[in-house]
Amino acid sequence: MMMVVTLQLLPALLLLLTKVSAQPPGGGGGGRPGGRPRIQCSLTTPFTGNRSDTPRAAPLRGNVGCVDLAAHALRQLPIRGDQEGVNIYGPMEAGFGSGNPRMACLGDVEVPGGIDTNLAEHMVHYICRDSGVEIQVLDACGGHAMPYHYHERMSCLFTADPVTLHSTRIGTAGDGNGIYGKHVDGGVEPDDLDACGGRFGVTPDSNGQVVYYYSITSAAPFSVGCYGPVNSVQECRDMYPETCGGGTIETVTTIYGTGLYTLDCPCFDKNQSNVIGQGRPGYLEPLEDVTTNNSNSSNYNFTTTMDDEENEVAVAKKAQTDTEREQIPSEVMSSAAVGTSFTGIWVTIFFSSGAFMGILILLQ
Ligand SMILES: *[C@@H]1O[C@H](CO)[C@@H](O)[C@H](O)[C@H]1NC(C)=O
Ligand SMILES: *[C@@H]1O[C@H](CO)[C@@H](O)[C@H](O)[C@H]1NC(C)=O
Ligand SMILES: *[C@@H]1O[C@H](CO)[C@@H](O)[C@H](O)[C@H]1NC(C)=O
Ligand SMILES: *[C@@H]1O[C@H](CO)[C@@H](O)[C@H](O)[C@H]1NC(C)=O
Ligand SMILES: *[C@@H]1O[C@H](CO)[C@@H](O)[C@H](O)[C@H]1NC(C)=O
Repeated sequence: MMMVVTLQLLPALLLLLTKVSAQPPGGGGGGRPGGRPRIQCSLTTPFTGNRSDTPRAAPLRGNVGCVDLAAHALRQLPIRGDQEGVNIYGPMEAGFGSGNPRMACLGDVEVPGGIDTNLAEHMVHYICRDSGVEIQVLDACGGHAMPYHYHERMSCLFTADPVTLHSTRIGTAGDGNGIYGKHVDGGVEPDDLDACGGRFGVTPDSNGQVVYYYSITSAAPFSVGCYGPVNSVQECRDMYPETCGGGTIETVTTIYGTGLYTLDCPCFDKNQSNVIGQGRPGYLEPLEDVTTNNSNSSNYNFTTTMDDEENEVAVAKKAQTDTEREQIPSEVMSSAAVGTSFTGIWVTIFFSSGAFMGILILLQ
């Protein structure tokens, strides 16, 4: 015979349960549990943040900053759909599988979550090298998805200051410091970025003051790896103890070769490695090719490319999956934390002949 036991628990317990069980990997806040709210970027209200030069982890899979409204206005390339288009995300993607549009060629190979967009794209290219399909995960400006967000380049959001040739400001990081295009004074790429992706310097709009700010880079972390300043890669790693410290190290292969990568660790050394002591990872283009501009992309042997529209639909659908994976836990957490929409929780436990059969949890 079957016995049904139903209990009503208090909202406080619900809060406790969801807080314990709904923690996204890395706390969604870069290894710091507690669900700090994501920053709100909008097309109407400028984001200024609270300026702080105290180092802390930046979100691993959410936005690390917002595009300034003046920079957004520079963008000529259309953003499809109902997009806000002002979110700047950190380097990491949520992973790819054959279920993603145009990625059937992945077969049963998964590109795991926690790999930066540039490397993830190279991995897809390698796995799909005989498919004749070139898959781009970002648009020409370095963004994708729905809601649209940037990971790399942001090339259509900045110009050069006419006097110093320093790139203009793109946006504001979660710590209130500026994010600028890829060039410093003289129109050259900086060689003094710290492990967060920032440096101290005078910017076109800092009124001659030396400030801490982030610079877009072609190598990960692309914009903001952590909120700095930091003095060493280790200082960055220490802010992500779950991933950089005790996380998963994957073996990764591209057309260039094979190397090691620490998932969801946004702290890269001068060799562009996030694994201590590995040297320049084998999956990256050899340095001699980079410096001579001797791209090896002809080795990909693609015969067709995806047209822009199809690509945008693909990345949008992919991003919806990402958004679901990334945001459901924090939404659960925030509605539980508000606590107004629930009066209680019903837990029904089924027993049959004294043996536990199942449990049904109902929110009210
Ligand atoms: C800045 O600090 C104020 C006061 O501590 C707080 O209310 C506000 O939410 C903070 N803003 C951001 C973007 O963190
Ligand atoms: C970078 O790689 C070179 C050559 O493998 C190595 O000698 C050097 O120590 C590495 N630097 C870092 C910061 O790991
Ligand atoms: C490298 O290639 C890019 C694009 O193909 C080009 O814009 C750039 O000027 C080249 N750089 C050098 C040093 O040849
Ligand atoms: C491409 O890669 C091969 C093998 O790694 C290397 O020998 C060659 O110099 C690279 N460059 C070009 C343009 O093929
Ligand atoms: C490209 O594909 C063609 C036809 O499938 C093949 O003959 C050729 O060897 C391939 N080239 C490379 C570099 O893989």
